[in-house]
Amino acid sequence: MAGRNIATRLITRAFSSSPKVTQKGTRPFQVAIDGPAASGKSTTAKMVAQRLGFDYIDTGAFYRCVTLAALSKGIDPSNQTQASQISNLAQSSHIGLNTVFSSSPSSLPTTRVFLDKKDVSSEIRTGTVSKHVSAVAAIGPVREAVLQKVRDMGATSTSHEGNSGRAGLVMDGRDIGTVVLPNADLKIFLVADSRVRAERRLQELAKSGSKEEGSDVETVQKDLERRDELDRTREASPLRKADDAVELDTSHLTIEGQVDAIVQEVHRRQKAASSSSPSSE
Ligand code: CDP
Repeated sequence: MAGRNIATRLITRAFSSSPKVTQKGTRPFQVAIDGPAASGKSTTAKMVAQRLGFDYIDTGAFYRCVTLAALSKGIDPSNQTQASQISNLAQSSHIGLNTVFSSSPSSLPTTRVFLDKKDVSSEIRTGTVSKHVSAVAAIGPVREAVLQKVRDMGATSTSHEGNSGRAGLVMDGRDIGTVVLPNADLKIFLVADSRVRAERRLQELAKSGSKEEGSDVETVQKDLERRDELDRTREASPLRKADDAVELDTSHLTIEGQVDAIVQEVHRRQKAASSSSPSSE
């Protein structure tokens, strides 16, 4: 448990400098989680959503689906002359996510991803898709099409007419705090050493059975660093920490410790918002 205590101390320090929550009206609570590749965003986001009874949207899955759609039509995403074809695909593709939450707080929710009704959950995680996804995500009209789909899904998932009608929303990606949910009630920016991230990604791929032959930690680390560089330097919504985000370096943190701290911070902000709302006076 020592790791968990250190995690909690480090996180408490990070949150203590964060701005106070402001009253945001009655819409569902929104948590935005951004950060570079394999920084632990999706595991953290899913577990936070499960603990809080919130919905979860993995926005990277959208860019991965568009990349897969382009590759399966023989389009080369690194060829800039193909950008308008890829943008058309982004608009016309139907992308669905289905997250199944577990009743046991210790087991991870699973997300299935559907591209035009086909389950592509494993296919979108292959090395080939990972290699090309940042080039696709840098195309402005692709981002606009994805942004629309993500916002529609977010609005549906937390509305009572929607399938889940859950109490809040956790979204992870690269531009959630800056572009997708600029008024999110809590913004987290996860970072971690690139070697640690590469080791985690390899473990994840091995566990899911999608580790490709010949992939070693150096190759994976180089690919993550190349992808981060593309994501940070692109013109359209680059990867950056929102001014009001809390930065957490997860290199030495346990997943449970960081999830606990984020859940506690959500409770603290919900309480602060409800005690400052006019109806509570
Ligand atoms: O899981 P990992 O961190 O490797 O990546 P991901 O979240 O699945 O996202 C894959 C790629 O999609 C990223 O490298 C970005 O290029 C892009 N992306 C983005 O541009 N904006 C987002 N909101 C989410 C992902």
